[in-house]
Amino acid sequence: MHAFDPSADHLKAALPDVHWLATEAEFYALGADLFHLAMHPEHRDRAFDALLDRSHREPITILCEKPMAAPEDPEKCWAIRQAIDRARAVVLYDFPELYDPLLGRIMQFLRGFKDVRIDSIDVQRSKDREDPANPRNRKRMVSIQFQESVHCLAFALHVLSAFAGGVEALLNQGCSLEGTSRIYRPPNPEDYPYAVDGYCEYQALLGTTVVKGCTNFLRGAPWAKRRVLRGTGDGQAFTIVADFLEGAKQLLINGESQSDVLGTDSYEEVIKTCGTWCRQETAESLPRGLYPHPRFAHVTYQLSSMLWRSCHDQQSLHRATLADVMSFDAMFAAAVPSLPRYA
Ligand SMILES: NC(=O)c1ccc[n+]([C@@H]2O[C@H](COP(=O)([O-])OP(=O)(O)OC[C@H]3O[C@@H](n4cnc5c(N)ncnc54)[C@H](O)[C@@H]3O)[C@@H](O)[C@H]2O)c1
Repeated sequence: MHAFDPSADHLKAALPDVHWLATEAEFYALGADLFHLAMHPEHRDRAFDALLDRSHREPITILCEKPMAAPEDPEKCWAIRQAIDRARAVVLYDFPELYDPLLGRIMQFLRGFKDVRIDSIDVQRSKDREDPANPRNRKRMVSIQFQESVHCLAFALHVLSAFAGGVEALLNQGCSLEGTSRIYRPPNPEDYPYAVDGYCEYQALLGTTVVKGCTNFLRGAPWAKRRVLRGTGDGQAFTIVADFLEGAKQLLINGESQSDVLGTDSYEEVIKTCGTWCRQETAESLPRGLYPHPRFAHVTYQLSSMLWRSCHDQQSLHRATLADVMSFDAMFAAAVPSLPRYA
């Protein structure tokens, strides 16, 4: 179903069998099991207002897109969390890899050990997002640290937190980040008020694990959503190589292919896994577990902020505790006037 987009007339003509709704209010009044807020952060307010209000009277589940807020608006993360805390809705953020059975298999393998040490995680997300022939590349994006590296940071945070006793326990061991970036050349520069980053290479230390990342949206970039984990389980070395790329998924655990978890559709899995978690947990218990809930999404936003600032200043950043990470302010909005403009 599609609603309230004034530019949707051509879609209406092309899709006569689709049931169209006339107003935004009608959409948020639907008796749906799950609402997916697949819009930019600055357009989500009315959706949250309507759905969080409904959640006082009936169960409401919301799948929300990342990033949690625009880079200019870090305070928004706190405001959203407070609004959600006052309501009764289940709210999850859309980091598809965290919902994928492929990650389920990785976690199952690692949980088979009594003692797990993850020495390194290599994370790569890459696609040619400058190709003018791909109409999807005209979708407006924010700087890559918030737009895409956030998926990689979420992956590392999730896996490492599972074996550190939670996100707080992990980040209370300290967190360092150092990155470099390059400017993105969109096919539609006229839609951007300032130039955004489209390439980011970084190294982080999360607790005692080295995380090396590369997110690349530049011309000719290969298509990949690759993860490599190295460590030891009960003293024995392991290597896990995964690629979450839709249609080309791969998972090798110590060289052995896990072909039975590769044939799934990532987008369907997000919905299915949402359903599973909602059956297993309640609106009260889910925020206490290791899920992509608002508190988790907020930490990923903060790590993106640190990464962006580190790239911007070409400086390493260190924070000793989770509280230090959460109080970090990248001062993105203040930097906007001095960011380069597209010609
Ligand atoms: N989780 C993921 O893997 C993933 C993938 C793609 C996009 N995203 C995120 O999804 C968000 C949207 O990105 P996109 O590329 O799909 O953008 P888009 O421009 O393609 O889609 C935005 C949607 O918002 C709707 N919209 C526009 N103005 C609106 C308004 N005033 N009120 C309500 N709705 C409005 C449009 O009709 C459209 O359906 C971004 O935050 C992006 O980072 C996440």
